[in-house]
Amino acid sequence: MKAVTVEKLGGPEGLILTEVADPVARAGEVVVAVEASGVGLVDAFQRRGQFPGFDRPGFIPGAEVAGRVLGTGPGVAREWIGKHVFALVRTGGYAQRVAVDPGLLIPIPPGLSSVEAIALGINGLVAKFSLLRAGLRPGERVLVRGAGGGIGSSVVQLAVLEGARVTALTSASRAQRVADLGVEDVIVRQAGTDVPGGFDVIIDPVAGPELATFLQKLRANGRYVINGVAAGFPTPDFGSALIASFAKSPVLSLLSLDSMGPAELADVGQALFGLAVTRKLTPLVGMTLRLEEAARAHEVLEDGQVLGKIVLLA
Ligand SMILES: NC(=O)c1ccc[n+]([C@@H]2O[C@H](COP(=O)([O-])OP(=O)(O)OC[C@H]3O[C@@H](n4cnc5c(N)ncnc54)[C@H](OP(=O)(O)O)[C@@H]3O)[C@@H](O)[C@H]2O)c1
Repeated sequence: MKAVTVEKLGGPEGLILTEVADPVARAGEVVVAVEASGVGLVDAFQRRGQFPGFDRPGFIPGAEVAGRVLGTGPGVAREWIGKHVFALVRTGGYAQRVAVDPGLLIPIPPGLSSVEAIALGINGLVAKFSLLRAGLRPGERVLVRGAGGGIGSSVVQLAVLEGARVTALTSASRAQRVADLGVEDVIVRQAGTDVPGGFDVIIDPVAGPELATFLQKLRANGRYVINGVAAGFPTPDFGSALIASFAKSPVLSLLSLDSMGPAELADVGQALFGLAVTRKLTPLVGMTLRLEEAARAHEVLEDGQVLGKIVLLA
């Protein structure tokens, strides 16, 4: 089968299309014939050698796939064969086939394509779990950092759908398209931008050195959820800013999909797919490219102009 491997850690040019052996479904596994796989910043961190456990080249990146079950290994019900599924594979997704634990499969309902399922996939799951963690209620004011990014734009969509009053912080080139998602306010991210305070909830896939400043934008009893580090780790003194807000009893949470069990992931995933089928939620597809264009997909992701998921077609 064809797969894209990271031949050299560093820039997108290290992503090379290669021919590798087809995976075999071992006991307790299925093989999925991949139709679409998602491109996200985690893949770029792995490619650069900046992700724990990915410090050597030779691996196939790609954390999420959608396609049809091709075969089952010993101990797995043959009823899976032919089913249209989404799977969080963590790695190995930039390939035409992938072996997966069936416990990680989420059925894709009729009416939703593989590309749309990927557009909802990791971004939607992180967004929904983050809003659940924050306990967002209708009418509350929520600030979304990196609102034009994959996770950020999904948070915006879901928060709007849940009746929150959304302020989106994003780059100038995406501001109008983010505004069109139904937010109350868009703030353009640039040096010296003044972001007001008083938010009930802040959802933050960016973190970085400005975290301490943003912690102070919560109102009393506000909830702050960090679900990514697109701008890198915060400076070590961010805890001082948190303690300085002691009188406001802020809640700071971190949210990783890695801590979620298969049943929770399947429940939330199916709910997201259901919202899309009933057209309450629009899967945001930024761009579709072929597997052999993986390097270009990473360039586009890191350029930060596209709004919505970058999807590779196997
Ligand atoms: N929690 C989880 O389980 C989980 C799962 C997958 C990924 N992640 C993490 O979530 C983060 C976002 O991933 P993603 O795929 O959504 O990435 P993405 O599409 O590249 O979005 C990140 C966005 O953050 C903003 N941004 C980037 N650099 C910035 C900076 N220096 N200062 C301020 N804003 C900046 C940009 O949005 P604007 O143009 O709108 O400003 C950018 O598009 C990554 O750290 C990734 O590793 C977490």
